[in-house]
Amino acid sequence: MSPVALSKSLIALALALSSASLATAQVTGTFPPVPLASKHFDYPSGIPYKVDTDVGLVRGTQLGYNICNSTTENQDSLCQTSFFDALDDFCLWAPSVPGKTVGDIEGEMIAWCTKPGHGTRLIPAGALTGVQFLKTPDYIQAVGFIDQTLINMVAGDFGGEMDPHGADLRGNPMGGIMFSSSFGGGVKQVIEWTNFMGGNAFCLKACDPAGANAAHYCEHIYDRIGCSFNAPNAAQDKVFESCDAENADFPGIYTSDGQVMTYTQPPESLGAITTVPYTARVPSSSNCQTFNSAELFTGLPTVAATGASTTGGAAATGTASGASSRGTNSASRYGHR
Ligand SMILES: *[C@@H]1O[C@H](CO)[C@@H](O)[C@H](O)[C@H]1NC(C)=O
Repeated sequence: MSPVALSKSLIALALALSSASLATAQVTGTFPPVPLASKHFDYPSGIPYKVDTDVGLVRGTQLGYNICNSTTENQDSLCQTSFFDALDDFCLWAPSVPGKTVGDIEGEMIAWCTKPGHGTRLIPAGALTGVQFLKTPDYIQAVGFIDQTLINMVAGDFGGEMDPHGADLRGNPMGGIMFSSSFGGGVKQVIEWTNFMGGNAFCLKACDPAGANAAHYCEHIYDRIGCSFNAPNAAQDKVFESCDAENADFPGIYTSDGQVMTYTQPPESLGAITTVPYTARVPSSSNCQTFNSAELFTGLPTVAATGASTTGGAAATGTASGASSRGTNSASRYGHR
């Protein structure tokens, strides 16, 4: 959701709060004293129960928690600590309950992961139908296809973008943090990341926290133009592959007739974006290895994810590989590839 739209919804929310629930929540401001992206934690001992403890701000309080362990690992988990390491080890932000679009609930998304061990909900077996993982000099990226209804998303929701900034700097989700061991030196907090969810597709990008250009490679202001511009990729449905790759260009930066240009995303008040004046360059990849989903995703629950709490590990494989009876994925508005 763009900052403009979010500001509008902040105002709407402020009005709703002021008329409805003043008894419990006196709204005294919008911005936190410390932006989410400035909160840095050592793993695991430095992580607080909740990263966002602000009260009285217009968007309310953090939905879930950040200390996640075997106790919180079930399909009712409200864990908001995410991991991202590999083709078979990542978490997507998705709703805790069905029935709300990403735009409505982006501040309250929780972590849904591809494997047990992170204290989170698990993406049900068969939901992921194709994923490409890229490791580049400056970031890691997973782009793929998913039956989004299995992670509580509304069918047909074209979704939106999560990142640790947001119009009010509390992040989407508020208090959501991410860790990775892909950048050397053990498990480190990822400071700059983006996650687009919607149209039965997703892209997740985590930038090397030590990289000089992390904020540019994981730029978060192009939230309306989707994965093909923010996470250029060659992901294909039915294919699970892991590759090395070059860096992409920074999102929004492109070269036209030898000139380096910066795209300006129009505000939502000007209507739908029907054309973007460039196509993002897909970086070349190498050392690609392909897998089938059954060997990647073990230990996932076979049930649909509407709050049922079976996390059985045994029977995951059958549905995982044969799942997709859908035709070509229509990742649509994002112009996915
Ligand atoms: C497990 O996580 C819960 C919820 O965050 C927390 O209350 C509890 O203290 C944690 N347990 C351990 C042993 O860390």
